[in-house]
Amino acid sequence: MEKNTKIYIAGHRGMVGSAVWRALEHKGYTNLIGRTSKELDLKDQVAVVAFLEKEKPVAIIDAAARVGGILANNDFPYQFLMENMQIQNNLIDSALKAGIEKFVFLGSSCIYPKFAPQPLKEEYLLTDSLEPTNEWYAIAKITGVKLCQAIRKQFNKDYVSLMPTNLYGHYDNFDLQTSHVLPAMIRKFHEAKENNHADVVLWGSGTPMREFLFVDDMAEAVVYALENELPEYLYNVGSGKDITIKELAETIQKVTGHQGTIVWDASKPDGTPRKLMDVSKMKEIGWQYSTELNEGIAQTYAWYLENIGSFKEVKM
Ligand SMILES: NC(=O)c1ccc[n+]([C@@H]2O[C@H](COP(=O)([O-])OP(=O)(O)OC[C@H]3O[C@@H](n4cnc5c(N)ncnc54)[C@H](OP(=O)(O)O)[C@@H]3O)[C@@H](O)[C@H]2O)c1
Repeated sequence: MEKNTKIYIAGHRGMVGSAVWRALEHKGYTNLIGRTSKELDLKDQVAVVAFLEKEKPVAIIDAAARVGGILANNDFPYQFLMENMQIQNNLIDSALKAGIEKFVFLGSSCIYPKFAPQPLKEEYLLTDSLEPTNEWYAIAKITGVKLCQAIRKQFNKDYVSLMPTNLYGHYDNFDLQTSHVLPAMIRKFHEAKENNHADVVLWGSGTPMREFLFVDDMAEAVVYALENELPEYLYNVGSGKDITIKELAETIQKVTGHQGTIVWDASKPDGTPRKLMDVSKMKEIGWQYSTELNEGIAQTYAWYLENIGSFKEVKM
């Protein structure tokens, strides 16, 4: 791909979109375009059609979505299903009609059935029922995967879907009400350290196992999908390694320099015992992660310290 290829990154201010933007800039791409949701509401079909007709990008990365945790999914099921379908339908359909050859769609591991065997393989898609708490989001994402697959099949265009594992890194969400486990722990350990190394209370037993990927590695996978024609329609992206929540806490404790005690509140739920992606398909075609967890956490903590107090404002 030429370095002046026009590439539109939908959701370029989000955690994933901004990492993709940085990665492409770093590789020398000079013709990147992005719009905030205020400038271009991707739910607005007329506006999306007009934007793509005017800008005519050669490739699109879809990192725009309405995202959120269990609470938000539970409280706003209609918005999670409808807005995500609107965003992706508008982008995918307008891209097809505008003759755009390359489209990278980003989903999430929640597309796989709740009780699918571990590690999760791509072929487990639609083999059983979903986790009810986020099925609204998952069903929208599954339709995105299927639309891109249908375009490959019917129109022979290079539309591909990547399903990331749990991501963390720069521009993460550190709001304790809505954040994921890893950034929440970084904040808790940091604040406890500042508070004379007070105890850190964490939910559950610490035994569940989870996989994490540094968002800059995810961005590298997106660039790989952009620069190469991938033979399949769907790929998992992760490290392929999981650790216990207890090990995660100990790693973050070490990185932040907290010297107090970790207290496990066993009265709180543990969640799914294990969630790990099978990433052998990406490996087979030549991509794998490069940032180990302690290194990625150290980089994320450094970013947290630099941006403390201004997380909302620091987005690009
Ligand atoms: N973070 C993770 O751990 C993780 C894990 C697996 C998969 N993913 C996937 O990666 C993708 C991106 O996630 P993220 O973590 O980067 O989310 P994020 O930080 O919340 O960013 C989402 C982006 O979507 C844009 N957006 C939302 N609604 C829009 C609308 N109506 N019109 C235009 N833009 C809109 C937002 O734009 P504005 O900022 O301009 O409002 C924002 O830039 C999602 O598909 C998600 O499922 C993320």
